[in-house]
Amino acid sequence: MRPLRRSCLLRWLGLKICRRTTVLFALFWFMFWALLNSLAFVHRSIFSDFCTDEKSKQILQRVCGEYREGVLTGDLCEDLCVNGGVEYKRCLYYENGKKVMEAEWHGVPVVLKSKLENFTSYEGFGPLEYQESTELSPMDVVFYATLEIKNSMGLEVRSTAVPRLWSQQMSQGSHPYSRAELASLWSLLQQEEYTFFKVLQDLSQHVVKVLGSCGHFYAVEYLIAGHAWNQNLFALEDLLSLPEAEGDDLTSEPRSKRERDMVHQIALSFLEMVRHFENDFSHHLHLCDIKPENFAIRKDLTVVAIDVDMAFFEPKMRDILEQNCTHDDDCNFFDCISKCDLRQNKCGSKRINSNLQVICDKIFRRWFSPTLMGERAGLPLQVELQHAVQECVETAGGEDATRRQAVMLRLSSVLSRLLRDGSTQRRSH
Ligand SMILES: Nc1ncnc2c1ncn2[C@@H]1O[C@H](COP(=O)(O)OP(=O)(O)OP(=O)(O)O)[C@@H](O)[C@H]1O
Ligand SMILES: *[C@@H]1O[C@H](CO)[C@@H](O)[C@H](O)[C@H]1NC(C)=O
Ligand SMILES: *[C@@H]1O[C@H](CO)[C@@H](O)[C@H](O)[C@H]1NC(C)=O
Repeated sequence: MRPLRRSCLLRWLGLKICRRTTVLFALFWFMFWALLNSLAFVHRSIFSDFCTDEKSKQILQRVCGEYREGVLTGDLCEDLCVNGGVEYKRCLYYENGKKVMEAEWHGVPVVLKSKLENFTSYEGFGPLEYQESTELSPMDVVFYATLEIKNSMGLEVRSTAVPRLWSQQMSQGSHPYSRAELASLWSLLQQEEYTFFKVLQDLSQHVVKVLGSCGHFYAVEYLIAGHAWNQNLFALEDLLSLPEAEGDDLTSEPRSKRERDMVHQIALSFLEMVRHFENDFSHHLHLCDIKPENFAIRKDLTVVAIDVDMAFFEPKMRDILEQNCTHDDDCNFFDCISKCDLRQNKCGSKRINSNLQVICDKIFRRWFSPTLMGERAGLPLQVELQHAVQECVETAGGEDATRRQAVMLRLSSVLSRLLRDGSTQRRSH
């Protein structure tokens, strides 16, 4: 009897939870809780780069301090540091020093980004360090900027195009640039992602828009980023809850139907992006890391590439793929693969799969697989869509443009028909 009485310590509480199992359960629960807490603590101390509002604000304060000292500058600085035109909202992401935060710029949501936290962590602008007194002419700046861009993208950029790119950052006229202007431009150019976005700004609607910069931080438009765990990959709920345009009779429609139509529209935009990246630049653009997280959508449902760390133009792609190899597996570079030439033990420099194939495999299959479509899976157009996606997944088509074209046409035709059907049904209701 004694041990039992000892386990009834809680009797003084007047509770009837003194049974051994209950005590054990409570003990277990407490241990579980303690374990979770210590895990969280360890996690936080290992990844001390944890994203907090306090830290983000400190980082921005340092940027502004340096702006006031005249160390750095940019078209965003005045709003960020002086007149409160930029309002910090929350931090989105810190990893390996990369800082990403959300803010509002005159009421418009933007994302502030920098690869490194501190301005001083970026390399100084070489010529500025040697030639203390001499001023740099705009042509010198253009020359250095062009070199840097060529370097970071593996692309030839005509030097006449460069001044246009920086016209917003730089003050008007042909007067020499200030040290702060040059240093800021240089810190931005060291961020491959910035260079990439900036160079493709006016050429592509499938690349995120850069809205401004202050020192090493630059602002891009706020978008709805993809998430693998979201059923639709993109949070369409956020879009549906936005007030609709006037004269729209969509509100009476079932939500699921509208979400489906949106998915079809986004899929069409993915196809348009594939076509565009393949044909509209001087070189084919390869996306080697295709997953929902690396894409986002605008309110008008255009697909935008937001993570271009693994996007390469053809010349750089060839350099990357050309490796020594003993079998084909050595020739896989994330989503970009080529074949091993066993006579020379060298990977082929030409990619054998394509952006389209990987998008079908990693994005479309998630949306349009029979298991996820439920009872609609049996409808003729849906079956046709599943077949088209399957064909697309199975067609490597890296080297066969006509084959790629055919697969693309079939997909876009089914998707357009699905959208049209949706709208005729809508009208007849
Ligand atoms: N324009 C944007 N609008 C909304 N959210 C964004 C935007 N850009 C980035 N994000 C969010 O911030 C996260 C991190 O941004 P980003 O993709 O630039 O980092 P990352 O490139 O994945 O980092 P790493 O280079 O270390 O892989 C994204 O997963 C996305 O959720
Ligand atoms: C950035 O600068 C601050 C203050 O000068 C310093 O405490 C911090 O360690 C620096 N961070 C990095 C990553 O260099
Ligand atoms: C690849 O192989 C060649 C000759 O077989 C050799 O000279 C070269 O160093 C190798 N390169 C790498 C990166 O291993």
